Amino acid sequence: MEIGTIGAGAFAKAFAKRALQAGHKVKLSNSRGPDSLREIVNHLGSGATAASKEEAAACEMVLLAVPWDNVPETLANLPEWNNQILIDGTNPFHGKAGKFTPADVGNLSTSQLVAALAPGARVVKAFNHMTVPNLEADSVVNRARRVAFISADDDGAKKRVETLLRAFGYSVVDLGNLRDGGLIQQAGGPLAERDFLERREQS
Ligand SMILES: NC(=O)c1ccc[n+]([C@@H]2O[C@H](COP(=O)([O-])OP(=O)(O)OC[C@H]3O[C@@H](n4cnc5c(N)ncnc54)[C@H](OP(=O)(O)O)[C@@H]3O)[C@@H](O)[C@H]2O)c1
Repeated sequence: MEIGTIGAGAFAKAFAKRALQAGHKVKLSNSRGPDSLREIVNHLGSGATAASKEEAAACEMVLLAVPWDNVPETLANLPEWNNQILIDGTNPFHGKAGKFTPADVGNLSTSQLVAALAPGARVVKAFNHMTVPNLEADSVVNRARRVAFISADDDGAKKRVETLLRAFGYSVVDLGNLRDGGLIQQAGGPLAERDFLERREQS
């Protein structure tokens, strides 16, 4: 599968490494254009390419990985969505790393807000509780599998992302829809920034 990333920072790069290891191709994009991404795609290696935001967003699966303050402008400037799966990896914080303050998103989960800003996309919430170091670390620790959570209103899209995350080596837990599941895994929710490992006992 060809997966696009909107944003090519710490989180998107860690995601891209995993996707490449799982045998997918990744088109990375940022706000400054493909030329600024040469070093990053060279470092990621075969299967990674630098793209425009429009090219990345045209992939069948797309990761949204921009700072929360940039989400409305980023989505407003993309072409119309045509049923692509949009994995919302954003967390609701204002500001930059080290100086984060929580953003007020009213009565919605953040992914409901993202879905409202990306009509035509099949939005799946994932990766919100996971830090970059944990995303970069082994998916199996002491024979226990790292857990990834997903939420979506579109069951077909959720299944596709579940398959991707299983290929990353994770044990996947479905938290339900964008509202309820989203609120549980997004920043401020009970799962945020926690690392879960699952060990299944052999019977
Ligand atoms: N770091 C984590 O542990 C972690 C984990 C899970 C989720 N997240 C979430 O993922 C998002 C990104 O986090 P990060 O740590 O990767 O941030 P980051 O390192 O600051 O990277 C942000 C990226 O977004 C790009 N960007 C900004 N505005 C854009 C626009 N209008 N169009 C296209 N690209 C744009 C930037 O491109 P330029 O450099 O060209 O401006 C940069 O590549 C945040 O919402 C964060 O909460 C982070």
